[in-house]
Amino acid sequence: MEYNKVKNADYILNSSSYVIKNAEKHKNKWNDYFGNKNPIDIELGMGRGDFIINMALENPNVNYIGIELNESQTATAAQRVEGRKISNLRFIQMDAANLDKVFGKEVRIIYLTFSEPWPKKIDEKKRFTHINYLKLYDRIFKKDKHIILKTDNKGLFAYSLETLSNYWYTFRKVSLDLHNDERNIHNIMTDFEKKYYEEKRPIYYVDAVFE
Ligand SMILES: C[S@@+](CC[C@H](N)C(=O)[O-])C[C@H]1O[C@@H](n2cnc3c(N)ncnc32)[C@H](O)[C@@H]1O
Repeated sequence: MEYNKVKNADYILNSSSYVIKNAEKHKNKWNDYFGNKNPIDIELGMGRGDFIINMALENPNVNYIGIELNESQTATAAQRVEGRKISNLRFIQMDAANLDKVFGKEVRIIYLTFSEPWPKKIDEKKRFTHINYLKLYDRIFKKDKHIILKTDNKGLFAYSLETLSNYWYTFRKVSLDLHNDERNIHNIMTDFEKKYYEEKRPIYYVDAVFE
Protein backbone atom coordinates (compact mmCIF):
# COMPACT_ATOMS: atom_id res chain seq x y z
CA MET A 1 0.00 0.00 0.00
CA GLU A 2 1.22 3.50 -0.84
CA TYR A 3 1.18 6.29 1.74
CA ASN A 4 1.70 10.01 1.50
CA LYS A 5 5.25 10.82 2.46
CA VAL A 6 5.67 13.56 5.04
CA LYS A 7 8.82 15.49 4.16
CA ASN A 8 10.09 16.33 7.63
CA ALA A 9 8.69 13.21 9.33
CA ASP A 10 11.95 12.61 11.20
CA TYR A 11 11.92 16.05 12.71
CA ILE A 12 8.26 15.80 13.71
CA LEU A 13 8.82 12.40 15.35
CA ASN A 14 11.78 13.73 17.32
CA SER A 15 10.16 16.94 18.46
CA SER A 16 6.60 15.79 19.25
CA SER A 17 5.84 15.18 22.90
CA TYR A 18 3.25 12.62 21.79
CA VAL A 19 5.84 10.37 20.16
CA ILE A 20 7.73 8.24 22.65
CA LYS A 21 11.41 7.73 21.92
CA ASN A 22 13.28 4.70 23.27
CA ALA A 23 9.98 3.19 24.31
CA GLU A 24 11.76 0.08 25.65
CA LYS A 25 12.81 1.98 28.73
CA HIS A 26 9.18 2.20 29.84
CA LYS A 27 8.59 -1.56 29.67
CA ASN A 28 6.67 -2.72 32.76
CA LYS A 29 6.41 0.93 33.82
CA TRP A 30 3.74 2.36 31.54
CA ASN A 31 1.41 3.19 34.41
CA ASP A 32 4.25 5.14 36.05
CA TYR A 33 4.81 6.91 32.74
CA PHE A 34 1.17 8.01 32.58
CA GLY A 35 1.14 8.72 36.32
CA ASN A 36 -2.06 6.81 36.97
CA LYS A 37 -3.41 3.28 37.34
CA ASN A 38 -5.78 3.47 34.41
CA PRO A 39 -5.91 0.63 31.86
CA ILE A 40 -3.55 0.69 28.89
CA ASP A 41 -5.09 -0.04 25.49
CA ILE A 42 -3.09 -0.14 22.28
CA GLU A 43 -3.86 0.00 18.57
CA LEU A 44 -1.60 -1.80 16.11
CA GLY A 45 -1.13 -0.07 12.76
CA MET A 46 -2.93 3.12 13.79
CA GLY A 47 -2.13 4.84 10.48
CA ARG A 48 -2.83 8.55 10.78
CA GLY A 49 -4.36 8.05 14.19
CA ASP A 50 -7.95 9.23 13.90
CA PHE A 51 -9.38 6.26 15.80
CA ILE A 52 -7.01 6.31 18.75
CA ILE A 53 -7.08 10.10 19.07
CA ASN A 54 -10.85 10.09 19.32
CA MET A 55 -10.85 7.09 21.66
CA ALA A 56 -8.51 9.03 23.98
CA LEU A 57 -10.74 12.09 23.89
CA GLU A 58 -13.84 10.03 24.59
CA ASN A 59 -12.31 7.95 27.41
CA PRO A 60 -10.03 10.13 29.55
CA ASN A 61 -9.74 7.33 32.14
CA VAL A 62 -8.00 4.98 29.73
CA ASN A 63 -4.41 5.38 28.50
CA TYR A 64 -4.01 4.86 24.75
CA ILE A 65 -0.87 4.06 22.80
CA GLY A 66 -0.94 3.96 19.02
CA ILE A 67 1.66 1.75 17.35
CA GLU A 68 2.65 2.45 13.76
CA LEU A 69 5.53 1.24 11.61
CA ASN A 70 5.43 3.97 9.01
CA GLU A 71 7.21 7.23 9.90
CA SER A 72 5.04 9.49 7.78
CA GLN A 73 1.82 8.04 9.18
CA THR A 74 3.07 8.45 12.75
CA ALA A 75 4.20 12.00 12.01
CA THR A 76 0.77 12.85 10.60
CA ALA A 77 -0.90 11.51 13.76
CA ALA A 78 1.49 13.62 15.87
CA GLN A 79 0.75 16.72 13.80
CA ARG A 80 -2.97 16.22 14.29
CA VAL A 81 -2.66 16.59 18.05
CA GLU A 82 0.20 19.08 18.22
CA GLY A 83 -0.60 21.97 20.51
CA ARG A 84 -3.37 20.07 22.29
CA LYS A 85 -3.13 18.53 25.74
CA ILE A 86 -4.31 14.93 25.61
CA SER A 87 -2.50 13.40 28.53
CA ASN A 88 -3.83 9.85 27.99
CA LEU A 89 -2.53 9.50 24.43
CA ARG A 90 0.89 8.58 23.03
CA PHE A 91 2.33 7.12 19.83
CA ILE A 92 5.22 4.77 19.19
CA GLN A 93 6.81 4.38 15.76
CA MET A 94 7.84 0.73 15.72
CA ASP A 95 7.21 -2.68 14.21
CA ALA A 96 4.42 -4.46 16.07
CA ALA A 97 6.50 -7.64 15.86
CA ASN A 98 8.61 -6.15 18.67
CA LEU A 99 5.75 -5.41 21.05
CA ASP A 100 7.22 -7.55 23.83
CA LYS A 101 10.36 -5.39 23.90
CA VAL A 102 8.23 -2.40 24.82
CA PHE A 103 5.45 -3.84 26.96
CA GLY A 104 5.44 -6.25 29.86
CA LYS A 105 2.18 -7.73 31.09
CA GLU A 106 0.38 -4.40 31.22
CA VAL A 107 -2.00 -4.12 28.27
CA ARG A 108 -5.78 -4.46 28.57
CA ILE A 109 -7.11 -4.30 24.98
CA ILE A 110 -5.41 -4.62 21.60
CA TYR A 111 -7.24 -2.95 18.72
CA LEU A 112 -6.53 -4.28 15.23
CA THR A 113 -8.01 -1.80 12.82
CA PHE A 114 -7.99 -2.41 9.09
CA SER A 115 -4.71 -4.26 9.34
CA GLU A 116 -2.90 -5.25 6.18
CA PRO A 117 -4.63 -8.43 4.97
CA TRP A 118 -1.49 -10.04 3.51
CA PRO A 119 -3.56 -12.31 1.24
CA LYS A 120 -0.66 -14.42 -0.06
CA LYS A 121 0.07 -17.62 1.83
CA ILE A 122 3.76 -16.72 1.87
CA ASP A 123 2.92 -13.60 3.92
CA GLU A 124 0.58 -15.35 6.37
CA LYS A 125 2.96 -14.82 9.31
CA LYS A 126 2.66 -11.05 8.89
CA ARG A 127 -1.08 -11.07 9.61
CA PHE A 128 -1.76 -9.60 13.04
CA THR A 129 -3.96 -12.59 13.89
CA HIS A 130 -1.41 -15.24 12.93
CA ILE A 131 -0.81 -17.67 15.80
CA ASN A 132 2.68 -16.19 16.32
CA TYR A 133 1.14 -12.76 16.92
CA LEU A 134 -1.52 -14.24 19.23
CA LYS A 135 1.31 -15.82 21.24
CA LEU A 136 3.18 -12.51 21.26
CA TYR A 137 0.09 -10.74 22.64
CA ASP A 138 -0.03 -13.29 25.49
CA ARG A 139 3.20 -11.75 26.72
CA ILE A 140 1.77 -8.26 27.03
CA PHE A 141 -1.80 -8.78 28.22
CA LYS A 142 -2.14 -7.85 31.86
CA LYS A 143 -4.87 -10.33 32.78
CA ASP A 144 -7.60 -11.38 30.37
CA LYS A 145 -6.85 -11.35 26.67
CA HIS A 146 -8.98 -8.93 24.72
CA ILE A 147 -8.75 -8.16 21.01
CA ILE A 148 -11.11 -5.94 19.03
CA LEU A 149 -10.73 -6.23 15.28
CA LYS A 150 -12.33 -4.30 12.44
CA THR A 151 -11.69 -4.89 8.76
CA ASP A 152 -13.26 -4.53 5.35
CA ASN A 153 -11.40 -7.62 4.19
CA LYS A 154 -13.52 -10.77 4.24
CA GLY A 155 -10.52 -13.07 3.82
CA LEU A 156 -8.65 -11.58 6.76
CA PHE A 157 -11.81 -11.63 8.84
CA ALA A 158 -12.56 -15.30 8.18
CA TYR A 159 -8.92 -16.16 8.84
CA SER A 160 -8.95 -14.22 12.12
CA LEU A 161 -12.15 -15.85 13.40
CA GLU A 162 -10.47 -19.18 12.80
CA THR A 163 -7.10 -18.39 14.40
CA LEU A 164 -8.75 -16.69 17.40
CA SER A 165 -11.17 -19.54 18.07
CA ASN A 166 -8.44 -22.14 17.56
CA TYR A 167 -6.54 -20.26 20.25
CA TRP A 168 -9.54 -20.50 22.62
CA TYR A 169 -10.74 -16.94 22.30
CA THR A 170 -14.51 -16.58 22.55
CA PHE A 171 -16.51 -13.92 20.80
CA ARG A 172 -18.50 -11.36 22.73
CA LYS A 173 -19.76 -9.73 19.58
CA VAL A 174 -19.42 -10.47 15.90
CA SER A 175 -20.84 -8.29 13.16
CA LEU A 176 -20.73 -8.74 9.41
CA ASP A 177 -21.93 -5.19 8.84
CA LEU A 178 -20.91 -2.99 11.74
CA HIS A 179 -22.47 0.23 10.46
CA ASN A 180 -25.85 -1.33 9.81
CA ASP A 181 -25.95 -3.62 12.81
CA GLU A 182 -29.28 -3.33 14.60
CA ARG A 183 -27.54 -3.71 17.98
CA ASN A 184 -26.05 -0.26 17.44
CA ILE A 185 -22.52 -1.23 18.42
CA HIS A 186 -20.71 1.86 19.65
CA ASN A 187 -18.01 2.67 17.17
CA ILE A 188 -15.39 5.30 16.45
CA MET A 189 -14.28 5.24 12.84
CA THR A 190 -10.70 5.02 11.62
CA ASP A 191 -9.43 6.97 8.61
CA PHE A 192 -9.76 3.97 6.30
CA GLU A 193 -13.16 3.13 7.74
CA LYS A 194 -14.54 6.57 6.89
CA LYS A 195 -13.69 6.01 3.26
CA TYR A 196 -15.24 2.53 3.22
CA TYR A 197 -18.31 3.84 5.01
CA GLU A 198 -18.86 6.39 2.27
CA GLU A 199 -18.45 3.64 -0.31
CA LYS A 200 -21.08 1.64 1.66
CA ARG A 201 -18.75 -1.30 2.05
CA PRO A 202 -19.59 -3.65 4.94
CA ILE A 203 -17.22 -3.58 7.88
CA TYR A 204 -16.54 -6.83 9.71
CA TYR A 205 -16.10 -6.64 13.47
CA VAL A 206 -15.20 -9.02 16.25
CA ASP A 207 -14.77 -8.42 19.97
CA ALA A 208 -12.83 -11.46 21.21
CA VAL A 209 -11.79 -12.42 24.73
CA PHE A 210 -10.03 -15.14 26.61
CA GLU A 211 -10.97 -14.77 30.26
C1 LIG B 1 -4.42 -0.28 6.06
S1 LIG B 1 -3.61 0.75 7.17
C2 LIG B 1 -4.85 1.09 8.39
C3 LIG B 1 -4.55 2.32 9.19
C4 LIG B 1 -5.59 2.66 10.28
N1 LIG B 1 -5.69 1.60 11.27
C5 LIG B 1 -6.94 2.93 9.69
O1 LIG B 1 -7.83 2.08 9.80
O2 LIG B 1 -7.12 4.01 9.10
C6 LIG B 1 -2.54 -0.38 8.02
C7 LIG B 1 -1.47 0.30 8.83
O3 LIG B 1 -0.71 -0.69 9.52
C8 LIG B 1 0.66 -0.29 9.52
N2 LIG B 1 1.48 -1.48 9.74
C9 LIG B 1 1.67 -2.52 8.87
N3 LIG B 1 2.48 -3.43 9.40
C10 LIG B 1 2.84 -2.98 10.64
C11 LIG B 1 3.68 -3.48 11.66
N4 LIG B 1 4.32 -4.66 11.53
N5 LIG B 1 3.80 -2.75 12.80
C12 LIG B 1 3.14 -1.57 12.95
N6 LIG B 1 2.34 -1.04 11.99
C13 LIG B 1 2.19 -1.73 10.85
C14 LIG B 1 0.84 0.33 8.15
O4 LIG B 1 1.97 1.17 8.11
C15 LIG B 1 -0.47 1.08 8.00
O5 LIG B 1 -0.40 2.39 8.47
